[in-house]
Amino acid sequence: MNTAVQVRTRPLKEGFGAEILDVDLQRADESTIQAVVDTFHRHGAILLRGQTMSPGDLVDFISNFGEPEDHTLKEFTVPGHPKVYVLSNKVVDGKPIGAHNDGVGWHTDYSYKPEPVMATMLYAVETPAEGSDTLLADCVAAWNALTPAEQARYDGKIVHHSYQHFMRNREFGARELSDELKAANPDVFHPLVRTHPADGRKALWPSTGTVIEVMGMPKQEGLDLVQGAVDWVIQDRFVHRHKWQVGDVLMWDNRCTLHTGTLYDDTKYIRLMHRLWVRGDKPY
Ligand code: SIN
Repeated sequence: MNTAVQVRTRPLKEGFGAEILDVDLQRADESTIQAVVDTFHRHGAILLRGQTMSPGDLVDFISNFGEPEDHTLKEFTVPGHPKVYVLSNKVVDGKPIGAHNDGVGWHTDYSYKPEPVMATMLYAVETPAEGSDTLLADCVAAWNALTPAEQARYDGKIVHHSYQHFMRNREFGARELSDELKAANPDVFHPLVRTHPADGRKALWPSTGTVIEVMGMPKQEGLDLVQGAVDWVIQDRFVHRHKWQVGDVLMWDNRCTLHTGTLYDDTKYIRLMHRLWVRGDKPY
């Protein structure tokens, strides 16, 4: 979409993502916000540094991209702001205020839902001086770099995802689901190669954690195929490593990326991020 206002940008990585410069989201007018939204849709990820955003500001901002999505687990949402989820190792009055190491492991958000979230936004409130980078992999570039024969191995494959499997086996915060959560999160089936609804570009779109099998393949063979796809996508040449600063707003398009959080010295540093999601649609 053409907009009257252009925003100044520079790539996060050659051919992927854009840092948007000189925009203060709290003061930006409607045309500038529209230009930010358009930049997001063109580049797969955007970064805006030096922002000052309350939870309410974050909800207002993300609403420009679509409907803010709910979070599966409610215990770490910001009081009064159910769409804003806290990622943190901070403990207040003896109680953790956020999910710790929640996003460590390559994945695409909400892959266990029939309509995984379109976009994820993280806003940095407090950041460690080292570690805790967020890595974004460009799954379109990864797909385009495959030979036709390799593409044919992946194309048309359907992957079985399970929230119950994920929560039972995850490295951090493993737990058995309540009956209510089980009923609300039945297994789902998604393509291993996803088509972007905006322009038809294809992305190699595996995940880890929620994957149980590839339909029609012997179990181990299917898991090896998915792992091979993950290993391909997360090569350095397709990955942007984001180093956090307080006030960063980083957003990515889950339809064409994978991402992972990384560890940090949680005995030495506090990390506090606000995460918001935008509702998505059924992958094809
Ligand atoms: C996420 O996967 O949602 C969060 C990633 C991070 O904490 O860096």
